[in-house]
Amino acid sequence: MNTLVLFLFLFPFSCVSSSPNNCPKCGIMDVPYPLSTSDNCGNPNYKVYCKNETLEFLSSVGFYYKILNINPHTSSLIISPPFIQKHSCQSSDLSLGGFKIDENSPFNISSRNTVMLFNCSENILLSPLNCSSSSPCRRFEEANEGRNCKNTLCCSYLKDSSMTSHRIRIRNQGCTAYISFVDFKAEESINAWRYGIELQWTPPNN
Ligand SMILES: *[C@@H]1O[C@H](CO)[C@@H](O)[C@H](O)[C@H]1NC(C)=O
Ligand SMILES: *[C@@H]1O[C@H](CO)[C@@H](O)[C@H](O)[C@H]1NC(C)=O
Ligand SMILES: *[C@@H]1O[C@H](CO)[C@@H](O)[C@H](O)[C@H]1NC(C)=O
Ligand SMILES: *[C@@H]1O[C@H](CO)[C@@H](O)[C@H](O)[C@H]1NC(C)=O
Repeated sequence: MNTLVLFLFLFPFSCVSSSPNNCPKCGIMDVPYPLSTSDNCGNPNYKVYCKNETLEFLSSVGFYYKILNINPHTSSLIISPPFIQKHSCQSSDLSLGGFKIDENSPFNISSRNTVMLFNCSENILLSPLNCSSSSPCRRFEEANEGRNCKNTLCCSYLKDSSMTSHRIRIRNQGCTAYISFVDFKAEESINAWRYGIELQWTPPNN
């Protein structure tokens, strides 16, 4: 009897209708406003793509990244970094120069990402990145996906506002692979590292 009362009490709350302009779910994922999967919902400046029940973010150079998580309260989402291809130390978006967002886009790369670059050429050592033998990228090279990059020159950096917030650049004769972790803590075990690139968006002003 108590269960029934509780159920009747809770039920109306779980039914609260969402804003009419919200897009429908994509697979199991909610698509909160202002994100938009079609012309009929969301805000068209915040386009994302629902393909085969998977929500994806399109870079300005035409590569799709799977969206892992969305937090409408902090206006942020986390996309999956591209795979490092089998038997090589090359990210699958290498031919496009890595990850890039249009400068005029409402999205940018948040400052909570730690980026690791692999198979870099020697001239990266002139940069302020951490390419030392104690750099956390060395530990990623021990992990499954990083194995292909073992013993390449690798560097790590925190993506803060002093660097461009619209791209993670890789290229042949530069660094050919990258990975990113959100809210990275070097002291944690590698299994606790949170794989992803966090983006944030400027909310629409209506
Ligand atoms: C769609 O997703 C399912 C499940 O993840 C997968 O098995 C299938 O191959 C995908 N189809 C296409 C066209 O990508
Ligand atoms: C590189 O990162 C490691 C681990 O976080 C740290 O101990 C080391 O001091 C850093 N080196 C440089 C040059 O920043
Ligand atoms: C490292 O980068 C060079 C080009 O800069 C490329 O030829 C080589 O295949 C890459 N190494 C691996 C293991 O992918
Ligand atoms: C990225 O966008 C957020 C939200 O609009 C803003 O607060 C932040 O300053 C931007 N970061 C940079 C580096 O432009």
